[in-house]
Order: sequence, then structure tokens, then C-alpha cells
Amino acid sequence: MPCLLDVHADETESLARMVGDINRGLTGRPPTLPPKYFYDQTGSKLFERITQLPEYYLTRAEETILRDVAHDVMAKLRPRDIVELGPGSCRKVRWLLDAFEDAEDVRYLAVDVGRDSLVQAMTALDDRYPWLHVHAVVGDFERHLARLPLPVGRRLALFLGSTIGNFDSLPRQALLAQIRRLLGADGRLLLGVDLVKDHGELNAAYNDAAGITAEFNRNILRIVNRAVDADFVPEKWRHHAFYNAAASRIEMHLLADEPQRVILRKLGVKLDFDRGEGIWTENSYKFTRESTEAMLAEAGLALEEWYTDAGCRFGLVLARPAESA
Ligand code: AVJ
Repeated sequence: MPCLLDVHADETESLARMVGDINRGLTGRPPTLPPKYFYDQTGSKLFERITQLPEYYLTRAEETILRDVAHDVMAKLRPRDIVELGPGSCRKVRWLLDAFEDAEDVRYLAVDVGRDSLVQAMTALDDRYPWLHVHAVVGDFERHLARLPLPVGRRLALFLGSTIGNFDSLPRQALLAQIRRLLGADGRLLLGVDLVKDHGELNAAYNDAAGITAEFNRNILRIVNRAVDADFVPEKWRHHAFYNAAASRIEMHLLADEPQRVILRKLGVKLDFDRGEGIWTENSYKFTRESTEAMLAEAGLALEEWYTDAGCRFGLVLARPAESA
């Protein structure tokens, strides 16, 4: 099957947007950086290594659930149209595709920002599943979902990996409402959420002994250096991640090891940091079944199935448009 490609975000536009986001974030109080910018080539490789760390249970737990429920989900839904937001390497969808018996003419639409990595992942899928019509959409799923083609049959949307956890309540509701609109009347959403659990286990997952998460966190400063011609010295920043129980989230920060001045040349901005002052780089929200249902309900979605791994560390929820929505 030929691979279709829609491009909604070219590199010039994406870079301009990133420069604006960095400016707003770093000049705000407290200074912040959006976690979606972690994933340059180095960042993606570091994240890949994170998923293999003994402490980082999320990816393994989610794949266990996918493996266990794929057959039931696919037999029950028999989707004609699968849309995945932020598929990365397109590894996880294979659990579903492999479990799909007598599939024919199914479309797989994947929305991701990196054109080359997306096309590469899609080509691999195309080779393996001759009955699959792959359609790559290069874009930002927070901005371009309304431009996706209409479903060609029952649609299954995938939003896996606890990416939803990166969004604060307002943008999260906006995104879920957009996803609901994608589904059509008989569509379904398969959503991966990381679950509230023992604080020690949560803290360990973001403070691995090998220091890979720290490296991943600091790498965003190199990304900023390139984007706005800045002179951050990553070695002068300390990784700080902790579970904030009141807010049900892991917070990730970078703390200045010594007082320093940073120049963002492209923006004509100077930033001064005292020792111990921080840049807030990520929130990773943790959910319960109850908070997941409440979040879905607010977006006009209803929980249909709730799956977890044996250790109840991760949740995979199948949701449908609510009757009244
Ligand atoms: C890719 C957003 C799911 O929040 O756990 C891993 C990113 N940050 N270690 C997460 C991440 C630090 C990850 N998500």
C-alpha cells in the first residue's frame, strides 16, 4: 500500500512557534519550559533508554496490558480506522494490529511532529501489514486534529504512554474534547494513564540510579541553546524530580548549581538565576480510576472498560462518547 503523507507543520513554522514558547516560558514566573520540546534526536534516544530502566515501570506495564487485552479489544471493536496521537516508533500499535484477525482495509493515521521519524516508523508498519493503509500526518496534535480526514468506518483513537499526564487540567480538557470530536458516534478511545501509587515507587521512576532521567532533563537546555542561540551550561543544572501528592503529579525541575547569567541571543533576553533557582520542565500527572472517569466525563466521554496490569501500576481505559454529549 502506498503511504500517504499530510504535512501541517513545516520546520520553519514549528521553529518559530518553539522560539515563542521558549521566550514566554523562560521569562515567566516561575520560569518553565514545555515538555514537548524534550524530544530532539538525543532526547528521543534518552527517552528510549528511560523506558528500559528498571525503575521506569510505565512502558513495560502498559505493554503488558496491551498484550493481554489486544485480542478482546480488536475482536469487539473491529475498527476500520485507527488514529494514533504521538505514536513515536509505532511499536505499541503492533500489539493491536497483530491481534486483529481477518483484518482487511484498515486505515492507520498517525499524528506526530517529527517528519522523518514518523515516515520511517510508518514505512516499517506498511511492510509488515499488507492490509493496512498507512497515512502519516506531520503536525501537532494540540493544534491540527481538526484537519484530520473523516473516519472511513468505526474509528479507534489511541493516546498511549501516559502522554495525557503531561497536560495541566485546562489544556487536557481541551485536548480530550478535540479527541472526542474525532471519534464520531461509534468511535472509541484507548487512553493510557499512569496510576497513583506508593510515593517511593513514583519518585524512583523519575530519579533512576543510572542518571538517565537527569540527562534527559538537562538535554532540554541544549535544545534551547540551539533554538534561541543561548548559552546554558547543562552541567551547571541539577535534576530535581518529586511526587507532589496534593496535585497528584511528578514535577520535574532543573535547579541552578551556582548563580549564573544566561543570554538568549536570538531573543535579546538576559536571565539571571540565583543558586537553587529553578526551571520547571515537566508535570506528569497520576490518576485513579475515579479521577480518570471524572476527566473523561468533563470531555463528554464515558468509561467503557478499565484495564490494569497485575500490579495496578498503569491503567488503560477504553472510552466512548457519552450518550448526552
Ligand atoms: C513520555 C510523558 C509519559 O511523564 O513519564 C519520563 C516522560 N519524563 N521521564 C513521563 C518522562 C521523565 C514521560 N511521558
